[in-house]
Amino acid sequence: MKSHYCGEITSSNLKEEVMICGWVHRRRDHGGVIFLDIRDIRGICQAVVNPDNAKSFQLAESIRNEYVVQIKGSVRKRLEGTINKNMHTGEIEIEVGDLTILSKAKTPVFPIDEYQEVNEDVRLKNRVLDLRRPEMNERIITRSKITSLIRNFLDKNDFHEIETPILTKATPEGARDYILPSRVQPGSFYALPQSPQLFKQLLMIGGLDKYYQIARCFRDEDLRADRQPEFTQIDIEASFIEQEEIMSISEKMIKNIIKDFCGDKLEKFEVIDWHDAIRDYGCDKPDLRIPLSLVEISEQVKDEEFKVFSEPASKKGSRVVALKVPNGNSLSRGQIDDYTKFVSKLGAKGLAYIKINDVKDLENGIQSPILKFLKPQTVENIIKSLDVSTDDLIFFGAGKESVVNLSMSSLIKKLGEDLDLYSKKWAPCWVVNFPMFEINNEGNLTPLHHPFTLPKCSIKEIQDNPDEVIAYAYDVVLNGYEIGGGSLRIFDTLMQKAIFDILNISKDEAESKFGFLLKALSSGCPPHGGIAFGLDRIVMLVTDTSNIRDVIAFPKTQSASCLLTDAPSKVDKDQLDELKIISTHKEE
Ligand code: AMO
Ligand code: AMP
Repeated sequence: MKSHYCGEITSSNLKEEVMICGWVHRRRDHGGVIFLDIRDIRGICQAVVNPDNAKSFQLAESIRNEYVVQIKGSVRKRLEGTINKNMHTGEIEIEVGDLTILSKAKTPVFPIDEYQEVNEDVRLKNRVLDLRRPEMNERIITRSKITSLIRNFLDKNDFHEIETPILTKATPEGARDYILPSRVQPGSFYALPQSPQLFKQLLMIGGLDKYYQIARCFRDEDLRADRQPEFTQIDIEASFIEQEEIMSISEKMIKNIIKDFCGDKLEKFEVIDWHDAIRDYGCDKPDLRIPLSLVEISEQVKDEEFKVFSEPASKKGSRVVALKVPNGNSLSRGQIDDYTKFVSKLGAKGLAYIKINDVKDLENGIQSPILKFLKPQTVENIIKSLDVSTDDLIFFGAGKESVVNLSMSSLIKKLGEDLDLYSKKWAPCWVVNFPMFEINNEGNLTPLHHPFTLPKCSIKEIQDNPDEVIAYAYDVVLNGYEIGGGSLRIFDTLMQKAIFDILNISKDEAESKFGFLLKALSSGCPPHGGIAFGLDRIVMLVTDTSNIRDVIAFPKTQSASCLLTDAPSKVDKDQLDELKIISTHKEE
């Protein structure tokens, strides 16, 4: 239907007869001549309809924005003064011969021909129009190109792309499962995979050596700006491989993506021990572009009368930290109040601070509501240990470790953004040596990654001190986002059974949920390991958006619905009857 893409016709096509198809981006009447800007996936081209071409002119008069048209015409140079140097096609225009309207369009809900902030719900309800906006179009195409680079990279490195089932059994990754009823086996359910974790391990036991998959994963969990209920992983697994080899190939892949799509050369990824990350940044996904870190001051304040500090300083599971903000003295009282509100929403009971007006005069040159509660020597010790300069500000967080870590790590990220403290464009790192387990809100041990992760110890050691065990687990963090995570896997049946046991999974439950894995493990299992990257998050970073929905063609909202199709929705009673399902939900 066309000879050229609109956005690709240039002076090199002068005098050629061309045929283009696309959307009418804008129509302008200019005293007897009608200009049509025609848009397709590669850009925009100007077409001109003269009144002496009566048939086409009459049609052009009826045309509105977003009509789909086909134009046959000849390429000519634009008149002096109408040349647009900023446009790839800005030197030429098409003199319209034949014009055909292929499809009419209602007036669009929001304009495509100019950038306007549009409410996201309106965008999601009208996603087809939204996808036509150049910035969305570009993001979705970039996503496709990134996927293609990844496939090429992994193919070249001898990985085989293998599909694994979507209708399957639960794979625990810490979220709730989406479940699907079986019609032929009433009362039984499939689970949608939270990840292909167990299947990729089975593929290794099946001798396939190196696997990858651009895999859709489903997790029923609380959604955030970087989380979707269905998302895409670049899922990787290999046999007879060490942790360092997996890290090295992963690092190469991410470097290639950033080089090809952003033109930047990433430095060697820093490697941080999980415990150090928690100590220094309060979280396991630090944004190392921000040169701020926490300093433990529990030792210095444990004997003070100021209970806000001394109690957590001497209590197990609590901590007191200081955070130096260079030049933070310029923060106003109002701004400090706002940061105090920000941390209190995350559970902190306050946000003490000291302003350093003159570091040479610690008697009169510092200012803080907590000075009256602390011994001058303690204040001096703290200031010295932080290597503070005049005009710096120190924030303090004290309380339960979980609260201090969450509130102070979030404060670091917020200060970085608000005060534009970024010292570089990219800051990739590995976080390694994760604990095998953590204690959840109910006081039970749960795996920090998943229960198939290989611990760095013997069965006996893990049985004796499960909460102290470190695992062969690693995450990749880029600019504060966890873009990937993986581990070496347990390849011994007895160790796997011991882990299920520590997690209070009974023999019967282990057999019914993971019997197929235990059986496979006992059939000759190669040492193996792997990693999975969040494709959506990588595309977010490459296309410089902080909203995951901007890089997914048809995403879901915070309440996991699709505003375009209205999913999830009710189904007919007949359909439920066939599945032997009765809903106990009562309409409000
Ligand atoms: P994990 O659960 O860490 O590991 O997931 C791997 C990566 O997937 C991305 N991700 C998400 N992206 C968008 N929305 C979500 N809801 C979401 N959840 C996770 C993250 C994360 O780093 N089977 C293991 C991998 C392995 O051990 O090989 C797994 O799924 O970027
Ligand atoms: P209060 O004694 O609660 O009035 O607090 C005195 C100062 O300590 C105020 O500046 C509070 O913001 C600060 N503060 C109180 N609780 C904490 C806490 N848990 N962590 C850090 N600062 C706190």
